[in-house]
Amino acid sequence: MNDILPEAIGSWQHLESVVRELLTSYGYEEIRVPIVEHTSLFKRAIGELTDVVEKEMYTFDMGEESLTLRPEATAGIMRAAISNGMLRGARHKLWCTGPMFRHEKPQEGRYRQFYQVDVEALGFPGPDIDAELIALTARLWRKLGIERVALHINSLGTPESRKAYREKLIAYFRGHESRLDADSRRRLEGNPLRILDSKNPEMQEVIAGAPLLPDHLDPESRDHFDALCAMLREVGVPHVLDPRLVRGLDYYTRTVFEWVNTDAQGAQNAVCSGGRYDGLIAQLGGESTPGVGFAMGVERVVKLLIQAERAPPPAVADVYLVVSGAQATAAGIGLVERLREALPHRRFELNLGGGNFKAQFRRADRSGAALALIVGDDELARGVVALKPLRRELGQSECPIAELAGGVEAALLTQNISLP
Ligand code: HAM
Repeated sequence: MNDILPEAIGSWQHLESVVRELLTSYGYEEIRVPIVEHTSLFKRAIGELTDVVEKEMYTFDMGEESLTLRPEATAGIMRAAISNGMLRGARHKLWCTGPMFRHEKPQEGRYRQFYQVDVEALGFPGPDIDAELIALTARLWRKLGIERVALHINSLGTPESRKAYREKLIAYFRGHESRLDADSRRRLEGNPLRILDSKNPEMQEVIAGAPLLPDHLDPESRDHFDALCAMLREVGVPHVLDPRLVRGLDYYTRTVFEWVNTDAQGAQNAVCSGGRYDGLIAQLGGESTPGVGFAMGVERVVKLLIQAERAPPPAVADVYLVVSGAQATAAGIGLVERLREALPHRRFELNLGGGNFKAQFRRADRSGAALALIVGDDELARGVVALKPLRRELGQSECPIAELAGGVEAALLTQNISLP
């Protein structure tokens, strides 16, 4: 679990504001759901035989109730849609962001508390929304200046076609049981598709020989997938068809996709992943409603932002007020508050806690300010403040206190410090 320190927060806020603006422009509305839900919700939605439910949930008892810190957001949003009567044939485009919790082995890019931006579209059965969601993510990378990502897609078909495929897969892996690791052997009966997702290098050869899911799709799922691929070509989003992409959560039907960081290896390379879950809402007791969505790992996207050198510069002050003398120190606070009122778009830092000129100018320099205002008892007596540009050799000047806001703005503009 990480602390997100002030030096990183600029990248987080930049990402959040770009995401918010983009999702709003595509018609998505924000929803905020609890961090804690009944454990049974995640068991039913994500699946009992998944890594997340078997090993990674932070679960605790409160009296009779078993509760869990959410490992993902989809289940909670579906619970909210059902319990607030939002469905009834209506369509919704929803998104949320916040921390998720999975008791995983921590490593670079994999944390126990991590943030997701989660996006869900409910009530849309066709491949058009799948394509639009993917186009939206591609636009997000462009807006963020992130280039080193690639899209992998696959179709898991309907539960019926998957059942037939599952039988074939079980028969194949049974024939190679001695080459399976303990996890895969355990999964063989309950969740054989997840064997395809194994990251164990020793398993890769036997996995490579397994029958492929796309060869066993039902005709409707095949049409859905072909139409999605055609739409992705139409919007110019390159994609890799990945017949072994199965995802780690059980609720998916038909489309699944993952954007991977092309520079990262192994299990931590997915930066954004999701798919269609047409059966989930009915399975949770709501009226049958198709759904599709994705979640991106904020830490992983922030890392890409920083690598692309698109992280915004840290926040700095525009103006630093240097004060010297007892009267000036008392007057400084009033002066800076009036300046903040008059120039709300500018950032002011008042020297607090005293210090000689040298120390104050050192602080002014560290603050990043372009302009220092020098308020001394002598200047105060004459009704003026001295203005000293800090980043350019422009010489010091004086400005009457009554005209200070205009003088400060003009001095910043002559230094090419445009409006933030
Ligand atoms: P997921 O693939 O489990 O899907 O997680 C989505 C994303 O969250 C991953 O691609 C990754 O970027 C990030 N992530 C997952 N686990 C960690 C971790 N331990 N540390 C850091 N980042 C992590 C879901 O959660 C689905 N609910 C997505 C979805 C929404 N499907 C449909 N709608």
